[in-house]
Amino acid sequence: MTRRLSGVEASGHCSAQPAKHPGGQVAATGSAEQPEKPFGGQVAGRGAKQPEKLLGGQDAATGFAEPLFAVEDLRFTYRGKDTPLLNGADLRLERGERLGLTGKNGSGKSTLLHIGAGLIKADGGRVILAGRECASEKDFVVARRSLGYLLQNTDDMLFCSSILEDVAFGPCNTGLSEPEAERAAYAALARLGLEHLAERNGRNLSGGERKLAALACVLVMNVRLLFLDEPTNDLDDDAGERLVRALEECCLPALVVSHDLPFLRRVCTRFCLLQDGRIGDIPAA
Ligand SMILES: Nc1ncnc2c1ncn2[C@@H]1O[C@H](COP(=O)(O)OP(=O)(O)OP(=O)(O)O)[C@@H](O)[C@H]1O
Ligand SMILES: [Mg+2]
Repeated sequence: MTRRLSGVEASGHCSAQPAKHPGGQVAATGSAEQPEKPFGGQVAGRGAKQPEKLLGGQDAATGFAEPLFAVEDLRFTYRGKDTPLLNGADLRLERGERLGLTGKNGSGKSTLLHIGAGLIKADGGRVILAGRECASEKDFVVARRSLGYLLQNTDDMLFCSSILEDVAFGPCNTGLSEPEAERAAYAALARLGLEHLAERNGRNLSGGERKLAALACVLVMNVRLLFLDEPTNDLDDDAGERLVRALEECCLPALVVSHDLPFLRRVCTRFCLLQDGRIGDIPAA
């Protein structure tokens, strides 16, 4: 396995610079599509493990009393479109909170997460990520180290020759030795009951297996907040339970995008709806 991780290193995946996906996409965690107004960045962290204990008050890491994540008056129109997709969207994720975001297909939920992570540049408005106002790619580069982002399309997160390498990729990038990264990867896989997939290639897994493996890539990292985009897609009941347990155990604040309202009700402390480019509250039950 060490040799395989060495192979990853040789191909540049373990360097400080995130690698390119074989398909030409951002590899570590980035967008499946080349955004039209990119900041040009990568999501530095692929996940999380340590409980977030900053329940209100000042942020120990940044010293600011900003929310963990917020967008204010966010405006965005895809190039070539007449209608704004986001038109004054406001959203706030406080420390110790899991916020569920739902909305119709195409309402802009994934786009909002991409903008929040700095993968697409908004036309206007304000983004705060990890307690830090992000106005430039430089700001996002720092803030994204605190973010674990489960992309809606998990194919963009599994690109190595084995799942173990995929999960070890993030820790390897943060400077862990290969054996340390491997141990962390096994532990993350074990938390989700996926040890048996360690040697498998992500391309040959089922949709649900891929989703959980991508989640392991996120949970292995030491981050402070999570973006989860449709985490229950493709999961059966048993896998869904493992996801819920893993989220409960990691105790991280999260912005969870989903159409699965029963799931959102189980894991989130608050809910909101994206509609007509703006965000409104919806009742919890
Ligand atoms: N790169 C792009 N260029 C142009 N239009 C795009 C691009 N990416 C997404 N869109 C369009 O923007 C709209 C919002 O897409 P987005 O993926 O954010 O929706 P969503 O709310 O996440 O939907 P779903 O619930 O299906 O995941 C859709 O109509 C989509 O077709
Ligand atoms: Mg989406």
